[in-house]
Amino acid sequence: MAFGEPVVGRVDGVEFMIQTLVCKETHWSLEDRGSGPPLLLVHGFPLDHTMWQAQIEPLSARYRVIAPDLPGFGNSRTETSDPLTMEFFADQLAELLGALGVSQPVIFCGLSMGGYVALAFWARHPSRVAQLVLCDTRAAADDETTRRTRELTARRVLTEGTEFLVETMLPKLFAEQTLAERPGDVETIASVIRNTPPESVAGALRGMALRPDRTAELPDITVPATVVVGEHDAITPPEEMDRMAQSMPRATFHLLPGAGHMAPWEQPARFNELMMGSE
Ligand code: MLT
Repeated sequence: MAFGEPVVGRVDGVEFMIQTLVCKETHWSLEDRGSGPPLLLVHGFPLDHTMWQAQIEPLSARYRVIAPDLPGFGNSRTETSDPLTMEFFADQLAELLGALGVSQPVIFCGLSMGGYVALAFWARHPSRVAQLVLCDTRAAADDETTRRTRELTARRVLTEGTEFLVETMLPKLFAEQTLAERPGDVETIASVIRNTPPESVAGALRGMALRPDRTAELPDITVPATVVVGEHDAITPPEEMDRMAQSMPRATFHLLPGAGHMAPWEQPARFNELMMGSE
């Protein structure tokens, strides 16, 4: 394990510090800020930790917020050319927490693909989990049609690059209101998608297609769970997430009005209130 020189920057007046860390086969890039109970923020596909920008600073008043780029995304690199499975991400995150000296169980908060990783992490490293926050995600596996579409998309991105993905994904990620009212912020997300290496996009598409159905495991999740979904989420609809919450013995369900699939990003004030325990 080796730490690199931290990079300090400023976005919209907010200072951030990116740490780098080489640990096993991953060169990590992450933000690690604040003190208190560890809160791990894991981004969705095909994004990076900057989707949590509206959470990192405010939530660091109460938590040690750790927001990494998953291996292959943002500025984190991995050598593997295998599918980037949810189990691979989960095990790498367990290594990362060890390297950061986090021995206390974490609050694992994941959005969409980050939620698939959260469930894999719970299955493989249960003693490391204090609480789950599952945003705009699902426990079920892909059906055959979705698997086939993912494989076709993986092949296309490897030959054509990521531009078509920006066009196909943006309308699905956000509520119509967000697309109309925050074009600049939406463009920031678009450029993250555009800049994600095609190999990582293909690796994660194939990894998501391989994930098991974890629905039957939900009743065994005995830690507190917060289930959050945007009212207009078209990818992981509220009804499905409500059923998911009902299957977990200690889960609470929260619908964020006016949000789509990127609920914490689209409605940060509501989401942060929930995380600060004031809702
Ligand atoms: C995500 O937001 O991470 C993706 O929509 C997940 C998926 O493709 O299943």
